[in-house]
Amino acid sequence: MNVEKLIRNIKNCTKCGLCKERKNAVPGDGSYDSEIMFIGEGPGAMEDLKGKPFVGAAGKLLTQLIESIGFCRENVFIANVVKCRPPDNRDPLPEEISACWPYLEEQIKIIKPKLIVTLGRHSMGRFLRDLKISEVHGQSKIANGIWQKKQFYLPLYHPAVALYDPSKKEVLFEDFKKISLILKQIKNDSP
Ligand code: URA
Ligand code: SF4
Repeated sequence: MNVEKLIRNIKNCTKCGLCKERKNAVPGDGSYDSEIMFIGEGPGAMEDLKGKPFVGAAGKLLTQLIESIGFCRENVFIANVVKCRPPDNRDPLPEEISACWPYLEEQIKIIKPKLIVTLGRHSMGRFLRDLKISEVHGQSKIANGIWQKKQFYLPLYHPAVALYDPSKKEVLFEDFKKISLILKQIKNDSP
């Protein structure tokens, strides 16, 4: 499927109940040539309003984190597990996550990221089973992939957590510093 069609399908999607209260679906943003994908949980109020991912307070911090390691938002890809805002920012329900999952799968197949960075435990839980974010944040993991058998993942705290817990902000900046090294290692290891 081409990118334009995929975006159109997401914007018009009615596959789960989250379509009822959304203002805008949020397909994701950035470069489809990126080696790295950042995957959050779901849009908040500001994202719903603008139709773009991570444009509220947590998004500001994510932008700073990305820039702190010499990348810019335009050159990476930022997406969410669910594309429409859960009312009152509640956690997405399992049936909403399942209904939306094929869109993220399709994005991963198009982008073919070398590294998937999960933001928060809900996003991590979709890709890596039975891990505790407090124990594994900042450690790269290899697990089943969607476009390749062995996929590298880096589970990180969600930037929203750092907004009310400043110690997590420091941890996030430290964990982000590992991204370039992990990408280098992946390239050295690949045939
Ligand atoms: N939190 C998320 O998980 N995703 C967004 O797009 C914004 C905030
Ligand atoms: Fe469709 Fe996903 Fe939005 Fe549900 S959350 S309506 S599956 S785009």
